[in-house]
Amino acid sequence: MFKITSIFITVYLLAIGVQSKQCPLIQSMGDINGPAFMGLWYQLERYPDIFETGFKCQTANYSLNTDGTVNITHNEYTDVGDYEISYHGYGIPQPNNPSNVTEIFPEFPPMNANVLVVATDYVSYALTYSCRNLPFNQRYENAWILGRNKTISSISPQTLSQLKQMLSSKGSSVQKFRLTTQDCDN
Ligand SMILES: *[C@@H]1O[C@H](CO)[C@@H](O)[C@H](O)[C@H]1NC(C)=O
Ligand SMILES: *[C@@H]1O[C@H](CO)[C@@H](O)[C@H](O)[C@H]1NC(C)=O
Ligand SMILES: *[C@@H]1O[C@H](CO)[C@@H](O)[C@H](O)[C@H]1NC(C)=O
Ligand SMILES: *[C@@H]1O[C@H](CO)[C@@H](O)[C@H](O)[C@H]1NC(C)=O
Repeated sequence: MFKITSIFITVYLLAIGVQSKQCPLIQSMGDINGPAFMGLWYQLERYPDIFETGFKCQTANYSLNTDGTVNITHNEYTDVGDYEISYHGYGIPQPNNPSNVTEIFPEFPPMNANVLVVATDYVSYALTYSCRNLPFNQRYENAWILGRNKTISSISPQTLSQLKQMLSSKGSSVQKFRLTTQDCDN
């Protein structure tokens, strides 16, 4: 009996130990109407993220180039002093899955990331997601809820919870979402 119990506990502990913290299998929305997605988006909620700590009023402005790439301008303000920062990059949609976009920001600090458009209705909300596997069974994960308007109340509570469900059902911890302050004149 003792032996069986200890085997059971060992297997149980192993199972916890190997529980994957690698990226969940979140899909992008597949086909996307690129031109309809372009233009200005306000960031309304995000997972805490080192690059955006100390900043508020984040926006993204997307514009489509004739070759299918996307120009991206991110704007934000420092929490302290309302100092405006703007940085530029571009996105390369995958030909066979254009809602999966490789984003490249060549300026300091140079960054690139795979960003998925998980859902959007083009006119009020979008959910975007990015995740990278790290060594030691860890991941670096970002999620953003974007709106065409500045206030989270412009997205219905039902829609918001459906969007979060798309992440949580695949194993992402949506309780990490935090409201983005949008109190700037932009
Ligand atoms: C998105 O594209 C990258 C390569 O560009 C690929 O590694 C990744 O698996 C793709 N993700 C999804 C969800 O399609
Ligand atoms: C977004 O970018 C486009 C193309 O560069 C520009 O014409 C437009 O004024 C920008 N919109 C905002 C709100 O910055
Ligand atoms: C994208 O950016 C490039 C380089 O700054 C610029 O020449 C081009 O006009 C931009 N395209 C659009 C659609 O704004
Ligand atoms: C978004 O803002 C515009 C103007 O700022 C307003 O006309 C529209 O009703 C707003 N939409 C929602 C869903 O709040």
